[in-house]
Amino acid sequence: MKIDAPLFESLVDDYQQRVDAALERWLPPPDVNPICLHQAMRYAVLAPGKRVRPILVYATASALGIDLKRVDGAASAVEIIHAYSLIHDDLPAMDDDDLRRGRPTCHRKFDEATAILAGDALQALAFYIISHDPQMTPDAEARLQMVEKLSLFSGSRGMAGGQAIDLAAVGKTLNIAELETMHIHKTGALIRTCVQLAALSTNKLSQQRHQALDSYAKLIGLSFQVQDDILDVTSDTVTLGKTQGADSARNKPTFPSIIGLHASREKAQELHQNALQALSIFGEEADILRYISAWFVERSN
Ligand code: IPE
Ligand code: IPE
Ligand code: MG
Ligand code: MG
Ligand code: MG
Repeated sequence: MKIDAPLFESLVDDYQQRVDAALERWLPPPDVNPICLHQAMRYAVLAPGKRVRPILVYATASALGIDLKRVDGAASAVEIIHAYSLIHDDLPAMDDDDLRRGRPTCHRKFDEATAILAGDALQALAFYIISHDPQMTPDAEARLQMVEKLSLFSGSRGMAGGQAIDLAAVGKTLNIAELETMHIHKTGALIRTCVQLAALSTNKLSQQRHQALDSYAKLIGLSFQVQDDILDVTSDTVTLGKTQGADSARNKPTFPSIIGLHASREKAQELHQNALQALSIFGEEADILRYISAWFVERSN
């Protein structure tokens, strides 16, 4: 499919609506006990985020000619893992933030214990979806690999590990390699998972194409967090929906704090160009992924 900017925007809208409907189906109803926990889970997940991870799942599926019904479960699961990570990231013991997606953070709206439990329950829900959803690929081996990828990339060798590195780095100066390692884990790993879960939904993908997609995913996973660091400096609280300047207020090592704003922007662009390069074996069917890479480094929120 030939894609231009307006079509990309309308596909992003469609995918956002599609995953919101799927999330609504998977989340526990707000009037079922334990009501407070279920409301906190819904509050965090259904808040207006960009849904970049599910969009990436759908875009990869579309580039590979996979029926989107096959990946609704994967799209929901990654967004739910992401929402859990944000709830915990905002806790007083971590980044201690009051604002998320333009609203009070989960522990501010409810209380700390409820926020911790909402994160726990969301993580479990994501794995329930991946293992249970009858619409996903019936290939049992592929399903098991999806569980394996999601657990590996969200655990201590992926996202949770990256968060541990992040917390240990407060007030420290990291070198570029250490900073990249932190970002690749805390943010890159889940973004990489999005592409992997979609790729596992077909058995028609060559090893070469699989590897090209994985290289692309690694590059945009890092560029996404470089841009997140940049926006903490250059954007504003209303646009971001989270408190601008929180990183420097908390002495977090970030790309701008270590290499400066100009070099950070160059870094993001370089990653974007490399991501396009990684996709060079694909034709226009992968244009949507090319647009996503550009969006990741050009976005303002
Ligand atoms: C914020 O992620 C946390 C990071 C990993 C950088 P997003 O920028 O995707 O946040 P939402 O989902 O749109 O709120
Ligand atoms: C968050 O990184 C990464 C995860 C939640 C895993 P940040 O701490 O930079 O995210 P924001 O800026 O609070 O959204
Ligand atoms: Mg953090
Ligand atoms: Mg944070
Ligand atoms: Mg940040």
